[in-house]
Amino acid sequence: MSSVIEKPQPATAQTPVLIDRFGRQVNYLRISVTDRCDLRCVYCMSEDMQFVPRSRLLTLEEIVQVGAAFVNLGVSKLRITGGEPLVRKNVMYVFDHLGGLPGLKDFTLTTNGTQLSRYARDLRAAGVNRINISLDSLQPERFKQITRTGELAKVLDGIEAARDAGFDRIKLNSVVLKYKNHDEVLDLVAFARQKGLDISFIEEMPLGIVNDHDRAYTYYSSDQILEDLRRHYTLTATTESTGGPSRYYRMSDSPTRIGFISPHSHNFCSSCNRVRLTAEGRLLLCLGQEHSVDLRRIVRDTTSSREALSQAIIAAMAIKPKGHDFNLAEQPVIFRHMNHTGG
Ligand code: GTP
Ligand code: 5AD
Ligand code: SF4
Repeated sequence: MSSVIEKPQPATAQTPVLIDRFGRQVNYLRISVTDRCDLRCVYCMSEDMQFVPRSRLLTLEEIVQVGAAFVNLGVSKLRITGGEPLVRKNVMYVFDHLGGLPGLKDFTLTTNGTQLSRYARDLRAAGVNRINISLDSLQPERFKQITRTGELAKVLDGIEAARDAGFDRIKLNSVVLKYKNHDEVLDLVAFARQKGLDISFIEEMPLGIVNDHDRAYTYYSSDQILEDLRRHYTLTATTESTGGPSRYYRMSDSPTRIGFISPHSHNFCSSCNRVRLTAEGRLLLCLGQEHSVDLRRIVRDTTSSREALSQAIIAAMAIKPKGHDFNLAEQPVIFRHMNHTGG
């Protein structure tokens, strides 16, 4: 297949849409551009991670080609993820080439924030409208423990750079673990309010074996966090959506939205609208299952037509599973760590 990028046409009533066998429309693609990361968060990775050799990664051109094919098929939201997307060499190529595609309404990034001081302005200029930044602790020592290597100050600087760059919205993501950071939810909300950011609290998902903690023991439910916060704030549930799994609450005295991503306590699979492209070019139909299609093979096959890529994407909808089967009490059945799919 040629590496020329198929120019998407604006979505029309005739545009084929991606619908799975449960009637869910897929309009959101999460693209992981690397499984590498400069941090080693304890819930995401084991200490001794093996990363994919560079030769097996999609090239930047191939990533753009697949992203554009999805937009052509009616996908209106792209999120670039990792690992840490901003550690991939020349990653701006991807943002610069996907950013202006007609039909793309939401162009977003999930990052750990360490490189934002360098990239925030360029990302905004490339058309990224929202950013989600991971932040699990505001205590430098604890931050270092959770990320195994990270420097909190670097991420705080990155958050400031993102605020200065003028994104429509910035959201913090906090994975909450009992006995590690559950006592910080109020501080994190206070920080989000002070900086004018949204924040989502996330229940840890059992992806890959992590050797740092027992996931059942550190489980801290969204309802428990809500109860903790309600001792200090009046929170009102909203029906707002950012197109992801967060359920949002608002406070009357601040624009900050507080979200909950609760794969265990409030399963959201029935409204799933997303699929994932791994850095190796595997199209994953669900974060919590192995159903996938190898798009790299199709993109690299010099005998296949451009149409073959679109057809493979459409056909993949037939194997999108109903949902995940996460069970914290058992060993994970998904051996893929979160950094391979970017969440
Ligand atoms: P918004 O576009 O702001 O709504 O972001 P998002 O929540 O879709 O994306 P983000 O990258 O910030 O992910 C936050 C958390 O949600 C991560 O822990 C993801 O793993 C999790 N998440 C996103 N989509 C899914 C999903 O389909 N299933 C599960 N189980 N978790 C998901
Ligand atoms: N469970 C839940 N969230 C996770 N993340 C990484 N690993 C896990 C996990 N096992 C989060 C990161 C980031 C987002 C992409 O996913 O903190 O915010
Ligand atoms: Fe890196 Fe994100 Fe995984 Fe942390 S959660 S180790 S920042 S990929």
